[in-house]
Amino acid sequence: MQQTDLLKIAKTYGDPVYVYDSEKIISQFQRLTKAFKGVKKLQLNYATKALSNITILKLMNSLGSGLDTVSIQEVQLGLMAGFKPSSIIFTPNGVSLEEIEEAAKLGVRINIDNLSILEQFGSKHPNIPVCIRINPHVMAGGNSNISVGHIDSKFGISIHQIPHLLRIVKLTNMNVNGIHMHTGSDILDIDVFLYASEILFETAKNFENLDFIDFGSGFKVPYKEGDIETNIEELGKKLSTRFNDFCKEYGRELTLAFEPGKFLVSEAGFFLAKVNVVKQTTSTVFASIDSGFNHLIRPMLYGASHTIENISNPKGRERYYSVVGYICETDTFASNRRISEISEGDILCFKNAGAYCFTMASNYNSRFRPAEVLWHEGKAILIRERETFEDLIKNQVDTKDLFLPVKENVTAK
Ligand SMILES: Cc1ncc(COP(=O)(O)O)c(C=O)c1O
Repeated sequence: MQQTDLLKIAKTYGDPVYVYDSEKIISQFQRLTKAFKGVKKLQLNYATKALSNITILKLMNSLGSGLDTVSIQEVQLGLMAGFKPSSIIFTPNGVSLEEIEEAAKLGVRINIDNLSILEQFGSKHPNIPVCIRINPHVMAGGNSNISVGHIDSKFGISIHQIPHLLRIVKLTNMNVNGIHMHTGSDILDIDVFLYASEILFETAKNFENLDFIDFGSGFKVPYKEGDIETNIEELGKKLSTRFNDFCKEYGRELTLAFEPGKFLVSEAGFFLAKVNVVKQTTSTVFASIDSGFNHLIRPMLYGASHTIENISNPKGRERYYSVVGYICETDTFASNRRISEISEGDILCFKNAGAYCFTMASNYNSRFRPAEVLWHEGKAILIRERETFEDLIKNQVDTKDLFLPVKENVTAK
């Protein structure tokens, strides 16, 4: 996909707009599969939360991916996209027993991450197999909000609670078919994976009927030039060897599962937004775009750095800009960034906009969420329409004459 294609998309579908390149998603899927070719049974379950457009889910399904879901609505989206229930795993955190039962009724695989629900679910449904999410107490992840495997994290069942967990399994006579962990996102160091994997192998020995071990995700992708990424190929080699050894020791060929989100879709995504105003102050040149953290919250939420290019003037002289949004509170995408000279009306392109961008978009400031376009085999395909004013108000209830406007102006006496 060329910059000129992106400019054409912005012209045809308007801006701001998200664009996803199917070729990049496919090549990332193949790269991960190839890295783990050393294991007999590999299952990649795409993490829906990263980018949940149904066309993207269908693309994943066509590649042979399964689906990792964290809400009953994500399960429903997956089924709507054509996934078999058995290809979907439900990995929620802190949801009600009823929501888990609803997912089980739909036939998807269940992953439980706390002892209370495990006991209740096991007592009521001893015949439904469950996977158990372990918290290995490993500090990993690019930001405290996305480090979820440490001792103070709300996720998973602590490895220190394994005896309690085993008591529940024995008492309820439930069937544990999988063991899972997810320690965080943006993990640089493959030794973190390997270390946490040893904890998972040790835990797995407590269960006789496992079908799979799920190592979660957290692979880091490069966000800017010179950024380090997780060395997938090296991880693939080392973890596959260790996994195969474990299977021999365990006495059965297990499935090695991952649930990648960012790795599959981050680099495939581009966010395009127009510059409304170039504002020179005494200290800074601001480029104010026709968008805000309501559309792309990662810089404000995680301090994430997205590369920004001026695709309307790619060869222009570079100058320093702070790129900001229109939300009426601090809304900064980038501070003092070198970007080729920006004029009002130019289209800026934010890279790595595939994961956790559209799915975190909101209507804050009563703005519409953007359109989404898939670039597939040289063609642009609209996969979500831009919202309209009707979308904004469609769930609001008209309370008719509950409040009436004042008849005359109220003036201070
Ligand atoms: C349980 C679980 N699995 C998988 C993922 C995907 O992680 P990533 O996008 O880093 O691949 C997440 C992300 O938060 C998660 O919570």
